[in-house]
Amino acid sequence: MTIQRYLTGITTTGTPHLGNYVGAIRPSVEASRRAGLENFYFLADYHALIKCDEPARIQRSTLEIAACWLAAGLDPQQVFFYRQSDIPEIPELTWLLTCVTGKGVLNRAHAYKAQVDKNTAAQVDADTDVTAGLFMYPVLMAADILMFKAHKIPVGRDQVQHIEMARDMAQSFNHLYGEHLVLPEAAVDESVALLPGLDGRKMSKSYDNVIGLFSPREQVRKQIFSMVTDSRAPGEPKQVEGSALFQVYQAFASAEETQKLRQAYAEGISWADAKQLLFERIDREIAPMRERYEHMVSHPAELEDILQAGAAKARARATPLMRELRQAVGLRNLASATAAGRKDKAKAALPSFKQYREADGKFYFKFVDAQGKLLVQSAGFASPKEAGQCIAAMKQSQALPSAAEAALAQGVDDSLVRAALKALSDS
Ligand code: TRP
Repeated sequence: MTIQRYLTGITTTGTPHLGNYVGAIRPSVEASRRAGLENFYFLADYHALIKCDEPARIQRSTLEIAACWLAAGLDPQQVFFYRQSDIPEIPELTWLLTCVTGKGVLNRAHAYKAQVDKNTAAQVDADTDVTAGLFMYPVLMAADILMFKAHKIPVGRDQVQHIEMARDMAQSFNHLYGEHLVLPEAAVDESVALLPGLDGRKMSKSYDNVIGLFSPREQVRKQIFSMVTDSRAPGEPKQVEGSALFQVYQAFASAEETQKLRQAYAEGISWADAKQLLFERIDREIAPMRERYEHMVSHPAELEDILQAGAAKARARATPLMRELRQAVGLRNLASATAAGRKDKAKAALPSFKQYREADGKFYFKFVDAQGKLLVQSAGFASPKEAGQCIAAMKQSQALPSAAEAALAQGVDDSLVRAALKALSDS
């Protein structure tokens, strides 16, 4: 089995807060320690340019966010940790993907559509404030992913559409030029903790209720003491349900510590004492990281060295793949074997099986002809293995599976399917 590759993109805008830490950074760093995987983490600074045109802020954000992930324990020896703009193959691949992507597909991308909808509602021109960069965002993101043949992309719900687009681009590319790219899949973790902010709503910059991850200690203390609570006096029992303070504590504490605080609530701990406990608990986890963070931010040359080493490691993967892709599309040395075009096409143009998973959690496949036209659609299987076995049986017998397992597409008869299966086995 091939090693599973996970890839995580980190947009370099803003300053991380505790909500980012609990919801994204901490679980992601923990996941990076799992054995038997390859993990890619990169700073998406080209993406940052879409949202920000202030050079000093771009640079500062990249510095802070890189320092933050390293301080939180990401080990650049164990993972691939690099800056997107250090990998020239990424924009190069972006162009190849641009050329296999329908404009209509990009019209449907959420971020672009949201802006267009906003403009329409405001009765201004639909393209107001839409750069071509915003429009192309999904293609650049697909290049990030496909460049490293990543299998799994841990993302939030809002990014799933982008991963599906990347998958479609890989499929189109492979269909035209042969099997060069790996089809990625989104890995959505439904269990990630949502941290409440100072006012009890979800912690988010847009609500201005955040606690900075590496704000100075005294500032964190002040912020915690400004958290909204109810008006129960010291000595009065307090409720843990709906208590933002309790939820934040729980995100940092062990089960045992949490149980103790629950008890203290019941026994009427004062809000001031509860806040002090929360501050101390958070500080215990963050203080050692803050020290590492401050060291890196004040020694940016060390960080730059780490990123340069990361870029070299990443490019050892990107450069050979890009060479292969240039060759595949015909961007070739003119003196190399000539006019092989027709043969390449014949090789690429074969019927194929496409396996995928649907929102119902089941595993499906399609059998498509050389032009990508649907021949056979499977039913849902409980596991990828069962879907694979059905495919293997079709290949072996060069015949359709049972009606319960798959059905012919509209207008297709089984002689067409047999011919396609034969073409595949003859190749
Ligand atoms: N768009 C992602 C976000 O806003 C960041 C990102 C850029 C990314 N390139 C990526 C995420 C590639 C995963 C894979 O969070």
